[in-house]
Amino acid sequence: MTDPRIAQLLKERIGLDTESVGEAVIGRAVRQRSSKVAGGDVGLYWEHLQASADEVQALIEAVVVPETWFFRYPESFAALAQLAGRRALALAGARPLRLLSLPCSTGEEPYSIVMALLDAGLAPSTFQVDALDVSRAVIERAEAGRYGRNSFRGDNLGFRDRHFTGVDGDYQISAAVRAKVQFRVGNLLAPALLADEAPYDYVFCRNLLIYFDRDTQEQVVGVLRRLAREDGVLFIGPAEASLLSRQGLRPLGVAQSFAFPLECKTPEPAAQPTFVAPSPRQPRTVPKPGVAPARSSIPKPHTPVTQAASSPAPADTGLAEIARLANAGQTAEARKQCEALLAAQGPTVEAFYWLGLLSDAQGQGAQAQGYYRKALYLQPDHQESLLHLAALLAAQGDVEGARRLQDRAARGVKRDA
Ligand SMILES: C[S@@+](CC[C@H](N)C(=O)[O-])C[C@H]1O[C@@H](n2cnc3c(N)ncnc32)[C@H](O)[C@@H]1O
Repeated sequence: MTDPRIAQLLKERIGLDTESVGEAVIGRAVRQRSSKVAGGDVGLYWEHLQASADEVQALIEAVVVPETWFFRYPESFAALAQLAGRRALALAGARPLRLLSLPCSTGEEPYSIVMALLDAGLAPSTFQVDALDVSRAVIERAEAGRYGRNSFRGDNLGFRDRHFTGVDGDYQISAAVRAKVQFRVGNLLAPALLADEAPYDYVFCRNLLIYFDRDTQEQVVGVLRRLAREDGVLFIGPAEASLLSRQGLRPLGVAQSFAFPLECKTPEPAAQPTFVAPSPRQPRTVPKPGVAPARSSIPKPHTPVTQAASSPAPADTGLAEIARLANAGQTAEARKQCEALLAAQGPTVEAFYWLGLLSDAQGQGAQAQGYYRKALYLQPDHQESLLHLAALLAAQGDVEGARRLQDRAARGVKRDA
């Protein structure tokens, strides 16, 4: 059991919530640091922490989870490129677009932003990216810009040929991309964070809020809103979307972009959660339980689905209606439609996934887990179910379980990319 004083210190400094991240992660970091500087005596280590700001930083370095990779959630970068392209055109050089990646970890996220914008044809002078993280170690690695294979996941790696050069088995980011990112150490919870900076057009804050408790999450959303322009857009992680929905923000409407324009508010604050319709990349049909999904029955990414947009398949119509009801706050009706889909078509990934989302949004975590597991029984690599289930497990302290699911989701990205 972690010394509660140390857990409280980490919560106050960086927002880390023991329940969300799990006792094991914090315990490991404390053991590592206390054996290094206090002979493993936790009482003595606590005193050491009181006296040394450097040791507090060392503990933070030991406890953070820097997992990241290039073009994580590729749809969000595609959506950003479109939004930024339009905005840059409208600005006609009046000012550069301002983008923020916080937390940026080892730099894969901000560099992906730059590559996406350059590849979309934006001139380097039309934008600038700021990138912050509380860990000095990850910022140093980001500044060095040298990456191993683990930072490149998925099969769609054309960007690597365009923007990196090979160095002894690693990959070095190009000077042109490097020049567009300004890195610095920064804590999302610091009261004067970026106080002297003009607000940002696009703010990426992904895969951090899941480690915070509800109060800290809400505090941080306030910070993100302060950092963004009134017409700005927030990009968050998939498991964090319901938090912004709860705050009355509506998603952009581009599946799996996890983007929330700040201008797009629901009429009433604290309205019902809003939902992004499942991606057309998901299979339209799945085998019955117990039968392994045949890969050949799953459409390849971006291959046109046989039904034209003007004549959607019945399942698509049903899902669109479920999304509409969910967005209108008619959760009970949306659930009924899911049940109706299940009755009409037998078990489908999408129906179980939606039931999971709806239960999740109503605070019925255990029930939501059951539905996500049913979706995963039908399609073991269903990305959204894996990520939402991971977030629920992390929230109840099962860090290892959450990590296993996140790894599975990452492997799924690799297969589908
Ligand atoms: C899982 S990574 C997310 C990186 C990237 N945004 C992504 O989604 O791939 C989480 C990062 O949050 C950083 N972090 C943790 N607490 C922070 C805080 N209070 N302020 C800024 N960064 C923080 C950690 O150092 C770590 O690098």
